[in-house]
Amino acid sequence: IANTIDTVKEKVREWKKSGYSIGLVPTMGYLHEGHASLIKRAVEENDKVIVSDFVNPIQFGANEDLATYPRDFVTDCRMCDELGTDLIFHPNPEEMYSDDFFSYVGVDTLSKGLCGKSRPTHFNGVCTVVTKLFNIAEADRAYFGEKDYQQLAIVRKMVSDLNYNIEIIGCPIIREKDGLAKSSRNTYLNQAERSAALILHKALTKGEEMVRSGEKSAKKVVATIKEIIESEPLAKIDYVELVDSEKLQPVETIEGPILTALAVYIGKTRLIDNFFVDSL
Ligand code: PAJ
Repeated sequence: IANTIDTVKEKVREWKKSGYSIGLVPTMGYLHEGHASLIKRAVEENDKVIVSDFVNPIQFGANEDLATYPRDFVTDCRMCDELGTDLIFHPNPEEMYSDDFFSYVGVDTLSKGLCGKSRPTHFNGVCTVVTKLFNIAEADRAYFGEKDYQQLAIVRKMVSDLNYNIEIIGCPIIREKDGLAKSSRNTYLNQAERSAALILHKALTKGEEMVRSGEKSAKKVVATIKEIIESEPLAKIDYVELVDSEKLQPVETIEGPILTALAVYIGKTRLIDNFFVDSL
């Protein structure tokens, strides 16, 4: 376990000298099987694996859940250990952001739509912390989940636009048995909300069926998904959108690879989910 940037850098220098490849899995902790799938893949593909476990304050908006975001570092450590992690980077916020921190990284256009509409500063916070983690860990590969598809697309674009020397690996969404996408935030849901949250996967499954069976109208797919979600009294839609999977711009006619993404409030908890169709 490393709490300081210098400790990580020292370890990385040692590993590089020995010619080891390094995989990085950025997380905000409270690890579940979604995170575990990324760590497993990183362990398979690299000699050494670093998991960062840091609730990044600058990606939370003023009225968001930074203070209440769930944390359980002891359990996280056990899980990382069992999966074969070599180093857990667990800094405190002051270690990452000094009082005179002035530098931010952002990806235009891709950060504006979908979650960017209701979270306008979120992705700059993500890009900035991810950049810091990339520079600290000097990893060969970094692992991100498709659960946060927009985040993955933005990180890929940042790496390509700014010539970062790192390979970005996207990993599939891990779900509960009943279809709810695993998320640290699911812990906020009470029993009634937990049942209500199933409507997200149910609606997306119907939307995906429509796309795969040849529906070409994005409007129709979005309308069907919205209608299903609106049938659930505890659900309040933030957005449902069908976009091209690279630039994340809304499409009218479904032709190439598309992403259908949504954010829905179940009670006070904002959940996201998506499906991605590569070839039609
Ligand atoms: P966090 O929400 O902890 O997620 C860490 C990584 O796990 C992300 O790449 C996310 O997409 C992936 N993940 C979460 N749930 C998943 C699931 N059900 N299936 C597959 N992958 C899943 O995303 C963040 O943290 C932060 O924004 C971070 C990138 C660490 C920057 O602070």
